[in-house]
Amino acid sequence: DSMHRELEALLTTTNKAEAEISRKDFDGFKKLFHRFLQVKGPSVDWIQPYDRIKARGLPDNIAVSLNKLAVVKLNGGLGTSMGCKGPKSLISVRNENTFLDLTVKQIEHLNKTFNADVPLVLMNSFNTDEDTKKILQKYKHHQVKIHTFNQSRYPRINKESLLPIAKSMGTSGENAEAWYPPGHGDIYASFQNSGLLDKLIAEGKEYIFVSNIDNLGATVDLFILNHLMSQPADKRCEFIMEVTDKTRADVKGGTLIQYEDRLRLLEIAQVPKAHVDEFKSVTKFKIFNTNNLWISLPAIKRLQEKNSMDLEIIVNPKTLDGGLNVIQLETAVGAAIKSFNNAMGVNVPRSRFLPVKTSSDLLLVMSNLYTLDAGSLTMSKKREFPTTPHVKLGSSFTKVQEFLARFENIPDMLELDHLTVSGDVTFGKNVSLKGTVIIIANHGDRIDIPAGAMLENKIVSGNLRI
Ligand code: UTP
Repeated sequence: DSMHRELEALLTTTNKAEAEISRKDFDGFKKLFHRFLQVKGPSVDWIQPYDRIKARGLPDNIAVSLNKLAVVKLNGGLGTSMGCKGPKSLISVRNENTFLDLTVKQIEHLNKTFNADVPLVLMNSFNTDEDTKKILQKYKHHQVKIHTFNQSRYPRINKESLLPIAKSMGTSGENAEAWYPPGHGDIYASFQNSGLLDKLIAEGKEYIFVSNIDNLGATVDLFILNHLMSQPADKRCEFIMEVTDKTRADVKGGTLIQYEDRLRLLEIAQVPKAHVDEFKSVTKFKIFNTNNLWISLPAIKRLQEKNSMDLEIIVNPKTLDGGLNVIQLETAVGAAIKSFNNAMGVNVPRSRFLPVKTSSDLLLVMSNLYTLDAGSLTMSKKREFPTTPHVKLGSSFTKVQEFLARFENIPDMLELDHLTVSGDVTFGKNVSLKGTVIIIANHGDRIDIPAGAMLENKIVSGNLRI
């Protein structure tokens, strides 16, 4: 209305004939202006800060939303890289609790606190299914329903002939290396094929929260859940990828890019060699994928039925024990982001990404830097800086068994910034590490850090003793 008044006033400033013509122009302008007012800014904020999601608060009835959620853990992987046999999820990480124990405790706590019914779904592979199922007995009396389904088993193919190397359908003996689980992108097809997708939808579940089982920071976030559930039906966000700020240590993680009006996951494997440094830059690509994902179940069903979940192929070359070169074709769960409507990234605090990939990670999560409460690890309040120390343990610590044998108990690390340990080193009881500590035992030497020792900004090397 004020625009109309202003324009009319302008028309009085000229003669009648000109005003006549200008009035026609103004009619057109008013239509355009009206449309301008109706269009709301850029249609999506591709990546929203977590604080904005959190600022919306929580409704009293968050349990209603929780009852529409299922938690899915990707459990197809083995503990091989940490020198363990069997599923990675069965490695003890804190106070005798395995990854799986911690997950079950977290969800049980959620269900008890909110009187809710959030089930846990494990995506197993042919490598992990049997051992995982045996262990599940142990949670029979916990207040959390546990479902499992199996991901696919695909044949590795000869790099030259591109034909399967399998001699038969078996997975042992000469066929031990002939098959593989084809990456976590397989979740969509396997989930649907197992019938569990339909079952959960029939039970009223609307979203799944998917994460790597070895990410101890991947707890159910009520604010993100509430954000999803409170969207108007026509704007339903079908996919949220939790991303976090990249540091120089995370250069390999996938990042989000906007491409032809959609969000896409860009993985290092897709980047031509000439641009890899650019991809790794923390200033050009500021965030990376934590693989904590919130995905709409009906949307998965729709895309699966239309056969339009289009995941980039990751070609993973391997050399088998016998020296044979093979390739395995894989996909990643996050690559599907481009197929979903109203997908977005949420930039979450680093604490939601606490993966345990190496024994150096394990040392951190076992230490007093973290406190354990109802299956969740949080940074100890006694730590003065919010950052975790840099820990680099040498190859004599790679295997979890050897790692454990080298510590009588886990040192006090509250004031540690940097720790490098290399060679044959052991730690006595109640050792305290502060500032920057470097311990290097040369080949053939051994360094035993005595019980009760306090090392602050110290280099210990050769057969030097403290
Ligand atoms: P990885 O440990 O192999 O991957 O699997 P990563 O190095 O973190 O990197 P991304 O996420 O693949 O980029 C991550 C999670 O996915 C499961 C593993 O068990 C682990 O929890 N996984 C992996 C499967 O369930 N199936 C697979 O085929 C591969």
